[in-house]
Amino acid sequence: MNGEALRTAGLPGTVETTAAPAAAARYALPAILLHWLQAALVLWLLWLGWNMVELPKGAERSAAYALHKSLGIVALLLVLARLVVRRLAPPPAPLATVAGGREAVLAQAAHRVLYALLLVLPLAGYLASSFTPYAMKFFGIELPRLGAPDEALNAAFKQVHLVAGWALVALLGLHVAAAVRHALRRDGTLSRMLPGRLSRN
Ligand code: HEM
Ligand code: HEM
Repeated sequence: MNGEALRTAGLPGTVETTAAPAAAARYALPAILLHWLQAALVLWLLWLGWNMVELPKGAERSAAYALHKSLGIVALLLVLARLVVRRLAPPPAPLATVAGGREAVLAQAAHRVLYALLLVLPLAGYLASSFTPYAMKFFGIELPRLGAPDEALNAAFKQVHLVAGWALVALLGLHVAAAVRHALRRDGTLSRMLPGRLSRN
């Protein structure tokens, strides 16, 4: 390692220029696995949510709601796990090509809002479901409710759930568009969210 590399290694906002830059500048493997697992789950939940509300009352609708609630709780647990992993293994510093610029600030802000929505959405769903007369189960296990049936509170949290759902869709559109743009520029941003063997760009 030369003197310059020694000085920049590990400093926030810089990327190491040692013999193994890719290893130093990527997300930790648990963060990568949780990102893709949660991405797949949340896309499924959005699809399931908008489909189930259109179903006629009956067994199929009840089963879809039960699955949505159980998977939604898994999504909540996954975001909590991601936040713990993030604390233990912080994300890599922005790449030198974007560090300090407007793009890096926007990306950071977008990630914060994504995390906030990933917390608010399932919590609002849990609260909305708490104030209905219907059972709330996690894969068959009865969950504690946070109150007695109350139509006004149910409607209020359903509204929060709906608005947060649309906000998440809008932000994910920007998020995926930004990821595609980075991939086309081959600037290494997508690589650091991929497991080592898949990140050869
Ligand atoms: C095709 C879909 C997706 C692609 C290509 C993608 C790509 C990426 C990439 C490349 C990063 C790292 C950005 C950087 O290093 O600055 C990232 C971060 C992130 N993504 Fe995605 N993503 C996708 C879907 C999703 C979905 C559906 C969610 C939400 C459930 C999500 C939530 C996040 C969050 C919260 C971060 C910030 C990670 C952190 O810094 O802790 N992504 N994504
Ligand atoms: C990240 C996790 C979640 C996502 C992305 C998600 C997404 C959605 C979407 C898109 C809808 C349809 C739009 C609407 O009418 O509100 C919906 C509806 C619903 N969700 Fe979720 N949801 C999540 C978590 C949860 C959780 C944890 C629960 C409860 C434990 C829940 C309970 C409900 C209920 C009861 C509805 C129907 C609302 C109605 O009848 O109007 N959701 N969800």
